[in-house]
Amino acid sequence: MRPLRIAVIIGSTRRAREGEAIGHWVAEFASRRDDTEVDLVDLVDYDFPAAYPDRPTEAVLRFTSRVARADGFVVVTPEYNRSFPASLKQAIDYAYDEWHAKPAGFVSYGYRSAGMYAVEQLRAVFTELHVMTMRDGVGVNLLDDGPLDDERRRRAATAMLDQLTWWAEALRAARQARPYVS
Ligand SMILES: Cc1cc2nc3c(=O)[nH]c(=O)nc-3n(C[C@H](O)[C@H](O)[C@H](O)COP(=O)(O)O)c2cc1C
Repeated sequence: MRPLRIAVIIGSTRRAREGEAIGHWVAEFASRRDDTEVDLVDLVDYDFPAAYPDRPTEAVLRFTSRVARADGFVVVTPEYNRSFPASLKQAIDYAYDEWHAKPAGFVSYGYRSAGMYAVEQLRAVFTELHVMTMRDGVGVNLLDDGPLDDERRRRAATAMLDQLTWWAEALRAARQARPYVS
């Protein structure tokens, strides 16, 4: 099987963000699999216009083309005020049919809720974009001082990636067989 292209999207662009280490951890973990080819998409590298432009800018086109090339997504999100950060919503809204009929899994983090409120809101957003979201994900409670790469997290990441690659393979074949009906 041709490896599945999985875009790992780091959603926080905050200075001194935790998201960079967490995103690099899951990208490295996913890249150990034979069935995936990881594309690390860090939103800090995109100078998106603050106001939605009339025509896509170079940064918007660069981002949407990476979404278009992906067979599935791992979205790495913190929780900000019971939701996900504006940087992530801005990026999501710049693509549209590039998201369609593809799966997404989540790696979330925050304080005690480990980013679960952010994930639930992202599920609603991705439903609008015809994205299939994975039931299982990885949650990191930043108040828990344990190492990032522990056995519990590796097990959670494996479950999420097993589901994600199952859907990514099935939906890639389905998109090739017949145009999606959005
Ligand atoms: C504006 C803001 C709001 C936050 N709100 C929450 C929250 O509602 N729940 C939570 O668990 N953590 C919350 N946090 C803590 C963040 O999840 C934590 O600081 C995390 O490191 C942010 O991700 P980042 O470092 O990658 O930007 C908030 C942080 C910020 C900056």
